[in-house]
Amino acid sequence: MLAQFEMSIPLVAAPMSGGPTTPAMVSAATAAGGLGMLAAGYKTVEAVEAELKIVRAEGIPFGINLFAPNPVPVDPDSYRAYAAIIQQEADRFGLVLPADPIEDTDWFDEKIALLLDDPVPMVSFTFGIPPSSVIAALQRADTVVVQTVTTPDEAAQADQAGVDMLALQAVVAGGHSGTLSPRRPLQPVPLVDLVRQVTAAVPLPVLAAGGLATPDAVSDIIRAGAAAAVVGTVLLRATESGASATHQAALTDPARTETVLTHAFTGRPARGLRNTFIDNHEAQAPFGYPAIHHLTSPLRKAAAAAGKPDYVHLWAGTGYRHATAEPTADILRRLASGL
Ligand SMILES: Cc1cc2nc3c(=O)[nH]c(=O)nc-3n(C[C@H](O)[C@H](O)[C@H](O)COP(=O)(O)O)c2cc1C
Repeated sequence: MLAQFEMSIPLVAAPMSGGPTTPAMVSAATAAGGLGMLAAGYKTVEAVEAELKIVRAEGIPFGINLFAPNPVPVDPDSYRAYAAIIQQEADRFGLVLPADPIEDTDWFDEKIALLLDDPVPMVSFTFGIPPSSVIAALQRADTVVVQTVTTPDEAAQADQAGVDMLALQAVVAGGHSGTLSPRRPLQPVPLVDLVRQVTAAVPLPVLAAGGLATPDAVSDIIRAGAAAAVVGTVLLRATESGASATHQAALTDPARTETVLTHAFTGRPARGLRNTFIDNHEAQAPFGYPAIHHLTSPLRKAAAAAGKPDYVHLWAGTGYRHATAEPTADILRRLASGL
């Protein structure tokens, strides 16, 4: 199934929404012999269309990732209590945050319509498994469908739904977990073990993600049975990365000594560099996606622009010390050098 992407190195540049993934990163990853993936999450349909146009012009294989709706409804009273606390933080930036929960689907149906109208080689989903009718429609359009999963049980569900491949994500991965059950604590199972468990139980190719930051780690995961390694955090400082300067600087700040799982920024578990916002608000934050994302988003944007990392979601996996300022192609080729 991966063969059609003509990869000479089994490395996938993870889709990273919120800025880091750019069309240039996608093209560079594919040109290096790996596979690049656009990130459609949070973007308008028009913005996705514009990025597709740029990558299509290169005439190369690529994938695109969508957030599939799997709402985590927020309790309205808990939302208002948390919003009142976070508003105090926003006051110092002169911002007014949404007082009531905003729920939406991130234009899921519109994005699917776009990808059916003008099909792409690969579509991947995270957060939820889309309806089988959506999966089948994409497959009829010759699109390979990939589902992000975090446990053997989720892998079985994705297989049942009819997807072609799995993106298997470990708890050490940077950014949001693709867990289908965001309120349930994530299990710290090593990626190598997860790959062995899932490949033994489910007959689908596995793209393995989470904490892969060295050539040895990539070799180990391929030996464990993964069809390819997916890397995100190691690309955050790449030449083609669109991660904010504030985010990139935090990754090399010696004072940032650990990553933690947090739902304080978005109401869904995600891994990032520990900062003051997480320390102060993790215990107060309700689960609730996308409402908590929409609540804190204006604050995070303003803080990133103002160079205040303690109010920014500094998404990073445990391998962040290996993120280097180099071309994407060099990073990917080095990661494949032990194979
Ligand atoms: C900044 C950032 C943004 C991310 N955004 C997305 C996304 O939009 N969709 C998605 O499926 N995964 C997203 N991820 C998770 C990656 O796809 C991947 O699972 C993860 O980066 C792998 O772990 P690593 O960061 O340790 O390499 C993101 C990760 C990071 C670091």
